[in-house]
Amino acid sequence: MLDQNEIKEGVKEYYGETLKTSSDLQTNACCDPYSMPNHIKTALSEISDEVVSKYYGCGLTIPTELNGLSVLDLGSGAGRDCFLLSKLVGENGKVTGVDMTDAQLEVANRNISYHTEKFGYKKPNVEFLKGDLEKLDELGLKDGSYDAVVSNCVINLIPNKESVLANTHRLLREGGELYFSDVYCNRRIPQELVNDKELYGECLSGAMYWNDFENLSKKVGFSDPRIVESKPITIENPRLQQMLAGFEFYSVVYRLFKISELEPHCEEYGQAIEYKGGMDEAPNAFMLDGHHVFQKGKIESVCGNSYNMIHKTRFKKYFNFYGDFSTHYGIYKDCGMNIPYSNIDSTAKNNSTNNDTNTDTAAGGCC
Ligand SMILES: C[S@@+](CC[C@H](N)C(=O)[O-])C[C@H]1O[C@@H](n2cnc3c(N)ncnc32)[C@H](O)[C@@H]1O
Repeated sequence: MLDQNEIKEGVKEYYGETLKTSSDLQTNACCDPYSMPNHIKTALSEISDEVVSKYYGCGLTIPTELNGLSVLDLGSGAGRDCFLLSKLVGENGKVTGVDMTDAQLEVANRNISYHTEKFGYKKPNVEFLKGDLEKLDELGLKDGSYDAVVSNCVINLIPNKESVLANTHRLLREGGELYFSDVYCNRRIPQELVNDKELYGECLSGAMYWNDFENLSKKVGFSDPRIVESKPITIENPRLQQMLAGFEFYSVVYRLFKISELEPHCEEYGQAIEYKGGMDEAPNAFMLDGHHVFQKGKIESVCGNSYNMIHKTRFKKYFNFYGDFSTHYGIYKDCGMNIPYSNIDSTAKNNSTNNDTNTDTAAGGCC
């Protein structure tokens, strides 16, 4: 079994030496094409060819409403997403990329002045730090200092996933979010596949079983992980497909808000919200996640968590809010969960059947 340092050295070698450009990847786990909104396509057209050619991400990790924000990119590689963010946060925003692979950092640092000039900024608003994401606490970054943390196809490569998620939670300010893309599996992956350097480097065998990931997120304080987008990874390499027979992989963009009031499940308080419009990138509708798209001018019922994900974040000023948390009506049925007990109809039916013979058990349900 490889130890954590051997796994990390393998990843450094893969991204520092084995891969020269995205076309050297053996599967489509990284770099599977995805749809891109126009404002991001426009920003992408300004990124240098060298940086674009060394992009190894697996999803779109650029949330809306970024102007002026401070953003941290975990595993920034050659810097494609950092330079996109540099453009979108504007001159008054700030972007920090962290990576451990010298060859990737060298390309990123060499391209800072090109992009600063291209965007017409007086001074760079982006920096790249060398560091191990398992030891984010050693980089001297301040608690609560980032509005958003992004990451693109990286956390699967990190052996100690709890450490990186817990430190991310610490570095985010209240109301901030981790918005990131990664690879997940339909079940836990056995150690012999984790030890395979190619499968690991291709962002496959380090992937978490999706339910372990959701539980870990909750454990470190991200109480209600939301899926923005998910799609199956087809691998498209017969040799590797055979090694991974029976395992299904998905590329998923998650959005994890740091909001202390979030509850582990969606609860109903009779609340509603209305998107007033006004976000440049969302003129007609705002997408909170894959299940929540708010049309401009339409009042929509929401659970307490969705209410807080808008009310306690940078999106608040674009919405009208109706209701409060004073009355609880039970679990919110449209968010994937129902009361786990037998329903009122069958209870009533049992009561009426049992009435003649045993009124005690019929009334209480205790036995
Ligand atoms: C699949 S590439 C993605 C790079 C970049 N996000 C992109 O989209 O092009 C994974 C990156 O994560 C970095 N990485 C992996 N494990 C790391 C760790 N423990 N600490 C810092 N960087 C790490 C690698 O060096 C590599 O640049």
